[in-house]
Amino acid sequence: MRKILVTSALVYANGPLHLGHILEQIQTDIWVRFQKLQGHDCLYICGDDAHGTPIMISAQKQNISPEQLIAETKTSHEKDSAGFLISFDNYYTTHSPENLELTKKVYESLLKNDDIETKTINQAFDEDAKMFLPDRYIKGTCPRCNTPDQNGDNCENCGATYSPTDLINPISTISGKPPTQKSSEHYFFRLDKYTSILQAWGKESLQPEIVNKLNEWFEQGLKPWDISRDAPYFGFEIPNKPGKYFYVWLDAPIGYMASLQNLSAQRKIDVDAYWQPNSPTELYHFVGKDIIYFHALFWPAILESAKLRKPTAIFTHGYLTINGQKMSKSRGTFILASDYLKYLNPEYLRYYLAAKLNSGIDDIDLNFDDFVKRNNSDLVGKVVNIASRLAGFINKNFDGMLAPTLAVPELFAEGPKLAEKISEAYETRAFSNAVRLIMQLADLTNKYIDSQKPWNLAKQNPNDPAVQNICTMGINMYRLLILFLKPILPVLAVNSEAFLQISPLTWEDHKIPLLNHKISEFKPLIQRIEPKTIGPLRP
Ligand code: 2FM
Ligand code: ZN
Repeated sequence: MRKILVTSALVYANGPLHLGHILEQIQTDIWVRFQKLQGHDCLYICGDDAHGTPIMISAQKQNISPEQLIAETKTSHEKDSAGFLISFDNYYTTHSPENLELTKKVYESLLKNDDIETKTINQAFDEDAKMFLPDRYIKGTCPRCNTPDQNGDNCENCGATYSPTDLINPISTISGKPPTQKSSEHYFFRLDKYTSILQAWGKESLQPEIVNKLNEWFEQGLKPWDISRDAPYFGFEIPNKPGKYFYVWLDAPIGYMASLQNLSAQRKIDVDAYWQPNSPTELYHFVGKDIIYFHALFWPAILESAKLRKPTAIFTHGYLTINGQKMSKSRGTFILASDYLKYLNPEYLRYYLAAKLNSGIDDIDLNFDDFVKRNNSDLVGKVVNIASRLAGFINKNFDGMLAPTLAVPELFAEGPKLAEKISEAYETRAFSNAVRLIMQLADLTNKYIDSQKPWNLAKQNPNDPAVQNICTMGINMYRLLILFLKPILPVLAVNSEAFLQISPLTWEDHKIPLLNHKISEFKPLIQRIEPKTIGPLRP
């Protein structure tokens, strides 16, 4: 039995979940459910990323405390994730006593290791708001193409990237006034010291596309990383440095540890065993490609410096696009998780994304026409249809009893034959391969049923044992399909287990058929999607 700790990226606590978050959580959840189905000891932890300037400003704008904002947001995030059947073992927050304590401990190790250096730097300052301004709070005219109202670091019109000091007529978006320059002392983590360790670790732990990306950064040379921010800031104050706070990205990944620590108060977990160097446990972070810099450079370097274990692997995924377009509010392609749930069953999205996901970092497109076709043809037409066509004969004519033997053992044997390949596909996050193999099995089954036509036999003699045999065969194939789909479709699996009157399926169950066993009355297990139910979700 493997001991595996898995995370999805902690979610910023200043806005609702959208389908981009859900893509990552579904990908992680399928992988975690697969590991649990295999009998491994796998924990899935996540939580909210509660610190930083945007959260502070957002609370100010709403006239509430940051504590209130992050509490409300966490409740909403948890509700939406649950709506998509995401099975966290713990969902916590970085604004927690556990995280404060762990962050201090890590920081002390960095100090002890002589990995923190002090530098005085100049930054934009808002005299009215009395705060330093992160780049995103400065706007101005693009120095290259002269388009007004561009962000502090890049121009949406011409694509130029620059620093906010290059902007023509810069203003603070907080006060609306031109920022001044002010100097202050900052603390830097000496990331550059860890270059060779990161290079060696990355080769073993990252997808090839990410290794290439990292090589570009290594060629440019790693620079010390600014881990401090000045007050006012919503975060943890740095010990013995009044008015100085840890930058949100320092305590955010430590929040993974804090979430596990918090779980250990409710369950018996040897937390230290997970974080010791050379720990035999496995640690995986699922992240989007936008935050790979933090997870593949800063985080492992911090762990190394703090004498803790590094991740076994970082699993990076691409973005979710809608009808081939980046999600954007102005284009109407920005879909909130809660809006999706108003109109559609979460398992449709889980299946659709699984059918497209693989181990790479390419973007995944949600196209609603394709979504309807795919779910209706696969889940409704190929899978559930098997049970719905056959159950009635067993229920009505054979008192719900499955036959004592398999009519075509060779057909059933296709399941165990595929099991290894399907399991490898899940393990390597090639979910689209898993789905393809499972649908091949469904096709074989439907072909068998269509060739045997039990409905014709039943017309002549409803109690013909051949009818019971064919239906038993088909229902056994259905059971295999549901078992293999269980990581993707947990509710369909539970409802199918109830229909089959069996205890929760585990991976090994694919080896033994279900015979001489009473099943229950068949109730519809899934509905066709009518394109009109998508309604306003469609851009
Ligand atoms: O990019 C983000 O959404 C961050 N909140 C992810 C943090 S992941 C971890 F490091 F906490
Ligand atoms: Zn420009």
